[in-house]
Parts: sequence; structure tokens; C-alpha cells
Amino acid sequence: MSLLVPRVLFALLCVHAAGSASCPAGCECSEAAQTVKCVYKDLQDIPIGIPGYTKNLFITGNHIRRIGPEGFKGLENVTTLSLSNNRISEVESHTFSSLHNLRSLDMSNNQLVSIHPEAFTIHNHTLRELNFSRALYNHSAITNLDTALRWSSLDSLHGLDLSSNGLIFLPPHIFFHMSNLRRLQLANNSIVSITNETLLGLEHLEDLDLSHNAFKTFNKEGLMELERIRKAKLHLGQNPYTCSCEIEPFVALLNTSQERVVDVEHVVCVFPAELRNISLLLARKLVLGCSHTEEENNLALQTSYVFLCIVLGFVGLMFLFVLYLNRKGIKKRIYEMRDTCREMWEGYHYRYEIDSDPRLSQLSTNAEV
Ligand SMILES: *[C@@H]1O[C@H](CO)[C@@H](O)[C@H](O)[C@H]1NC(C)=O
Ligand SMILES: *[C@@H]1O[C@H](CO)[C@@H](O)[C@H](O)[C@H]1NC(C)=O
Ligand SMILES: *[C@@H]1O[C@H](CO)[C@@H](O)[C@H](O)[C@H]1NC(C)=O
Ligand SMILES: *[C@@H]1O[C@H](CO)[C@@H](O)[C@H](O)[C@H]1NC(C)=O
Ligand SMILES: *[C@@H]1O[C@H](CO)[C@@H](O)[C@H](O)[C@H]1NC(C)=O
Ligand SMILES: *[C@@H]1O[C@H](CO)[C@@H](O)[C@H](O)[C@H]1NC(C)=O
Ligand SMILES: *[C@@H]1O[C@H](CO)[C@@H](O)[C@H](O)[C@H]1NC(C)=O
Ligand SMILES: *[C@@H]1O[C@H](CO)[C@@H](O)[C@H](O)[C@H]1NC(C)=O
Repeated sequence: MSLLVPRVLFALLCVHAAGSASCPAGCECSEAAQTVKCVYKDLQDIPIGIPGYTKNLFITGNHIRRIGPEGFKGLENVTTLSLSNNRISEVESHTFSSLHNLRSLDMSNNQLVSIHPEAFTIHNHTLRELNFSRALYNHSAITNLDTALRWSSLDSLHGLDLSSNGLIFLPPHIFFHMSNLRRLQLANNSIVSITNETLLGLEHLEDLDLSHNAFKTFNKEGLMELERIRKAKLHLGQNPYTCSCEIEPFVALLNTSQERVVDVEHVVCVFPAELRNISLLLARKLVLGCSHTEEENNLALQTSYVFLCIVLGFVGLMFLFVLYLNRKGIKKRIYEMRDTCREMWEGYHYRYEIDSDPRLSQLSTNAEV
């Protein structure tokens, strides 16, 4: 309160001094350009008395920590608002809802922690551009931002910048209600994967920036997501791609969609060290030499079976040939074997006859005793 009184007095003084062309302290106002700039003035709050004609409002490079709806009352003509380079950590409920014509909101370079679920609710669906580049204090704040983005009916949004926020993952469905989103910047985070629910609802996406993240490859789900947004240009460079055989499906996608990947020359192997800087497109052909896809595997297996059969057949033929060469000796051996068998048989037969005569067996037992 003690701060507010002198400020109101000062504003009144200004009104008296400059008539209708008043301008808050620390700001530069241009009625002709409908622009107000309050830049690098150590402001702690949104200045009071911003003129109603303002279309473009820049309150950047100050020390503002908290923003709420009271700061923007009566500014129905503002279309562009930049609050970048402040220290904003808290955004209250309906902060921007009196800005009925807001089209572009720049919150970049702040320290957002506490974001009310209805912080970005703006009626009339006028908002087209939202910039949260380097705006989050840390990765944890994405949870609050996710809720706020979903509650704020941003279905008119065309551009969203979430770059440089240290994001590790994206909450599922985070973009689900942004059905008109054209450009999505996620560069310079630490995202490792996208799932089948990350980009759900982005039917009109034209540009997706995933460069400077932590992708080692794209798994099957991720590749399907990239296939699904087939109209979108992709920025995929500067990721720590690991060129092992698992990267092959991603390489195949790269190969078939080279014209979509605008920075394909930066899509290079980073690991292992001996493949560093080699384009993924070349790595497959020249170096990896993987042949582990299923069909190739089956083919290899079939080939080896055929080879085995041929070898076995050859061995069999050789065996028969050897038998043929030795046919005389073999015949002799067979006769000999037959004779031996016959002798044995006869001997056995004789023994049997003796054994089967009880008297004889009795005799032999007695003799043994
Ligand atoms: C907004 O702009 C219109 C047209 O330029 C003007 O008539 C109106 O007074 C402005 N609103 C305020 C609050 O000054
Ligand atoms: C936006 O909606 C508000 C009510 O929420 C209304 O007063 C205003 O006239 C609308 N502006 C436009 C440009 O439709
Ligand atoms: C968002 O803000 C950052 C930093 O102020 C800027 O570099 C970037 O170009 C902006 N993004 C868009 C889409 O304008
Ligand atoms: C992020 O910052 C908040 C508030 O200081 C803290 O509670 C939280 O642990 C931090 N999260 C991470 C991942 O550092
Ligand atoms: C990437 O993000 C970090 C913060 O997460 C920031 O310090 C750095 O300047 C950003 N780099 C670029 C090229 O924007
Ligand atoms: C995403 O995949 C999970 C299993 O991995 C499945 O349960 C879920 O239904 C899938 N969602 C969509 C939208 O396809
Ligand atoms: C890329 O696709 C073409 C056919 O479109 C194919 O001939 C070529 O071998 C593929 N290259 C790689 C590296 O997959
Ligand atoms: C990889 O390429 C970058 C620039 O293209 C270069 O600065 C770097 O030294 C290269 N690294 C190796 C290991 O060749």
C-alpha cells in the first residue's frame, strides 16, 4: 500500500503534466506507434497508467516477480505483450483475461514455478503465439505449465516455444487441445524420447524443432509419431545419436523423409567415438553393416539350410560311391557274415534242443553238483 500511494500520485502528476498523452514512469510511450516500452528500468511491478491506446507493450529486463490480472486492466487494445527477461516466478489466475485482443505473449527468460491452472485463460481465442523459451525455473515447473496450457483453451494457438527449459520428458497429451498449432519449438532441452501420446492432436503441425536434445535414437513409438505428423518439417540435429544396429529404423525414416528433415547434415553419429560426425545416412551403408532385420535373418537362415542340404547330399553321394567301389569286397564280407550267422544259428538251435529235454538238463545239473 505504501508503495502504491506515491505511484498513483506520480501517475496523476504525469496526467496533469502531459494531458492525455500520459506515460508511466520508466516507460517510453508512442501514441503514433501505439507502443509502450518499459525496458531495463528495475521495475518491481507492472507500471500503473499504461495508456489505453497501447497495442504493443514491452515490459522487459526488469525485476518483476509476480503478475496478476490487476496489472493489465483496461488494456483491451494490446495485441503484443512481452514480459521477457524478468524474474517472474508466479502467474496468478486470469492474469491476461482483460487483454481481449492479445495475439502474442512472450514470457521468455523468466523463472516460472507457480502457474495457476487458469493463468493463461484468454477469452475470444485470440492468442496465436506463446513464447516460454527459458521461462521455467526447472523441469518440475512443466507440470504446472501443462495444467495451465490444458485449462486455458488455447485452440487458436499457432506457435508455441518451449525451448531451453531443461525438459526431460513431455507430459502425455500436453498439446492435445492445441489443434491449430503450426510451429512447436522444443529445442535445447534434455528430452530423450517421444511416446505415442506426446504429439496427439497436432494435426496441422508444420514445423517441429527437436534439435539440441538428448535423443540417442527414436524408438518404434517415436518413429510412428514422426510419421503421423507427415506435413511437418523436422529439426533433428545436434542430438547424441548412438550408431548401433538399433538406430536402423530411424535411419530408414531419415532416408525416406530427407526433404522433411531441414538439418539433415547435423544428424550425425556422436557415439561410438570412431563413428563421430559420420552422417546417419552414411553410417548404415558404410560402417554398421547390420543385417539383423527379420526378413534378412530368415533369408540367411534359409540360405544356410540349403547349403547344409547340399553338403549332406554330397557326403551321401561320396558314401555310395565308396560302397560301389568296394562292392566285391563287400559281397565277400556279406557271404562270410551269412555263413557265420548260419553256423551260429545252427549251434544255437542244437543247444536249445538239448536244453529243452528235461532229462538231459537234470543230468547236467547233477553232474555239476
Ligand atoms: C482501443 O482502440 C480503439 C480504437 O483505436 C479506441 O477507440 C479505444 O478507446 C481504445 N481503448 C482504450 C481503452 O483506450
Ligand atoms: C472479446 O470478449 C469480450 C468478453 O469476454 C468482449 O467484451 C469483447 O468485445 C470481445 N472482443 C472481440 C474483439 O471479439
Ligand atoms: C522466444 O524468445 C526467445 C528469447 O527471447 C527468442 O530467441 C525466440 O526467437 C522466441 N521464439 C519465437 C518463436 O519467436
Ligand atoms: C525445482 O524447483 C523447485 C522449487 O525450488 C524444487 O522444489 C524442485 O525440487 C526442483 N526440481 C528439480 C527437478 O530440481
Ligand atoms: C540452452 O538452454 C540453456 C538452459 O537450459 C541455456 O543456458 C543456453 O543458453 C541454451 N542454449 C541455446 C543455444 O539457446
Ligand atoms: C499408446 O501406447 C500404449 C501402450 O504402449 C497404449 O496402451 C495406448 O493405448 C497407446 N495410445 C494411443 C493413443 O495410441
Ligand atoms: C534410401 O532409399 C533408397 C530408395 O529410396 C535406397 O535405394 C537406398 O539404399 C536407401 N539408403 C539407405 C542408406 O537406406
Ligand atoms: C565434428 O564436426 C564438427 C563441426 O562439423 C567439428 O567442430 C568437430 O571437430 C568434429 N569432430 C570430430 C571428432 O571430427
